[in-house]
Amino acid sequence: MLSWPMIAFGFVTNLFQRGLAAWRRMLDVLDAAPAVLDSERDAEAEFDAATDGVAPIQGRLEFRNLSFAYNGHPVLDGVSAIVEPGQTLALVGPTGSGKSTLISLLPRLFDPPRGTVFIDNQDILDLPISTLRRAIAVAPQEPFLFSHTVAENVLFGADGAEGVDLVETTERAMAIARLDKDLADFPKGADTRVGERGVTLSGGQKQRTSLARALAADPRILLLDDVLSAVDAFTEDEILRGLRDGAGDRTSVIVSHRVSTVRHADLILVLDAGRVVERGTHAELLAHDGLYAGLHRKQLLEQALEGA
Ligand SMILES: Nc1ncnc2c1ncn2[C@@H]1O[C@H](COP(=O)(O)OP(=O)(O)OP(=O)(O)O)[C@@H](O)[C@H]1O
Ligand SMILES: [Mg+2]
Repeated sequence: MLSWPMIAFGFVTNLFQRGLAAWRRMLDVLDAAPAVLDSERDAEAEFDAATDGVAPIQGRLEFRNLSFAYNGHPVLDGVSAIVEPGQTLALVGPTGSGKSTLISLLPRLFDPPRGTVFIDNQDILDLPISTLRRAIAVAPQEPFLFSHTVAENVLFGADGAEGVDLVETTERAMAIARLDKDLADFPKGADTRVGERGVTLSGGQKQRTSLARALAADPRILLLDDVLSAVDAFTEDEILRGLRDGAGDRTSVIVSHRVSTVRHADLILVLDAGRVVERGTHAELLAHDGLYAGLHRKQLLEQALEGA
């Protein structure tokens, strides 16, 4: 007779304990100090930025003999490159060669050693993080989407600056990412909910939503980490052309395993185990007839076989 109240009591206790554990985890998160901190001087600069005291970022990137390690495990070794505002830098190389790591240093997801990474000739360690992150938009290798509509997911990238038409911004970004093609198949177009309580997007659709989000920010510096891996060659071409047409003087860094994605870049770095093993334009690298040229031949062959 007492069993039902006992079960109920047990259930409530269990619920309470789980709630408590979740609460503790939340407090841990709230208490954790950010891994990357602005120095006091940066805090002042941040104040200046809010009051227009800091010059807007132009987008010149420089890596100066950059070596980087995760907890003593070396990942990048002596990487140097200069990218002028408006140019595109491409990174190719086998898995684990350090491509994602290299771009993650720009928005300071991890801090590089002092004197190795510069934006507009300033050490990024001296740039306020808020200034950096306003100037940079990233479409990460593992896109994350919220359980909201497609349009809301894209809109999330747009900064609500005065004079920005958010509807137009969202639509333009979705068109460049060629999401408009996919949306035609969805029950409510861009107002279709995605995620747990909505439709499940394919890997490529997720990538393009994430790309559109980065574009909606209209950033000075755009970082694309392998976001075109799941699109067909034709759509890839359309997207790349749209990116080039709309780039203006935006600086881009594009990571890819595919030669087709990077062939128009102003500078291509071929990374292997954290080192730049080849550098140049597509034409220069083909003439060099090394790793890149080999990759190109292999991918042309694959394409031909797929088409056959
Ligand atoms: N957050 C991290 N902590 C520790 N090690 C990491 C971390 N991220 C990457 N690594 C390691 O650093 C090396 C380079 O990884 P990175 O992700 O930069 O390579 P990648 O060139 O982007 O590879 P892929 O083509 O597979 O995306 C790998 O050995 C990886 O295991
Ligand atoms: Mg990567």
